[in-house]
Amino acid sequence: GLADMRAVATRDSLDSVHTQIRACTRCALCGPATQAVPGEGPRDAALMVVGEQPGDTEDRVGRPFVGPAGQMFDRIAAQAGLARDQAYVTNAVKHFKFQQRGKRRMHEPAHKSEVMHCKWWLEAEVALVKPKLIVAMGGTALLALTGTKEGILKRRGQIEETAHGPVLATVHPSYLLRLPDEDARETYTALFRQDLEKAAEYVS
Ligand code: URA
Repeated sequence: GLADMRAVATRDSLDSVHTQIRACTRCALCGPATQAVPGEGPRDAALMVVGEQPGDTEDRVGRPFVGPAGQMFDRIAAQAGLARDQAYVTNAVKHFKFQQRGKRRMHEPAHKSEVMHCKWWLEAEVALVKPKLIVAMGGTALLALTGTKEGILKRRGQIEETAHGPVLATVHPSYLLRLPDEDARETYTALFRQDLEKAAEYVS
């Protein structure tokens, strides 16, 4: 029936979007990066999780959130009752941006113009997956989805209505990993867990 035809069309077009993302040359980040990293997860996921950009590991492996930040996310999400494999996980920017320092590739934040260029792909993913809720992890995801990252620490934990549907703002797991103070790390990790619990409840 029509529903089946729509399901097939959606599957084909999400695969096609992933293929197009892997071939993207719309901004200069495609030069130095190993490969573009499209989103991954069920095409009918109720929850979409959006990060910043692939890290060093993701750039080599070609999958989102498989390095240290991804492991942190998986752990806290599981504690919050969110199975990562039930979410569609992606990034605001699909290529790793870095500065080479000797043998190390140091993460560089994407410019607003790069975020705006790459929004084309994020919007295509949102339009095809049609999640009930999008979790924006960190300022770059929040910028892409709401037009501004101002006041993220005050906005976190709240659900905002946007042109892309409801968006829950929270911090990025890398931010938690970078906090030097153990007490602060514990406090902000607990808040991050709460935000993910709220997301789990919203989509259940
Ligand atoms: N950080 C992100 O924002 N995304 C990834 O995929 C990995 C690390």
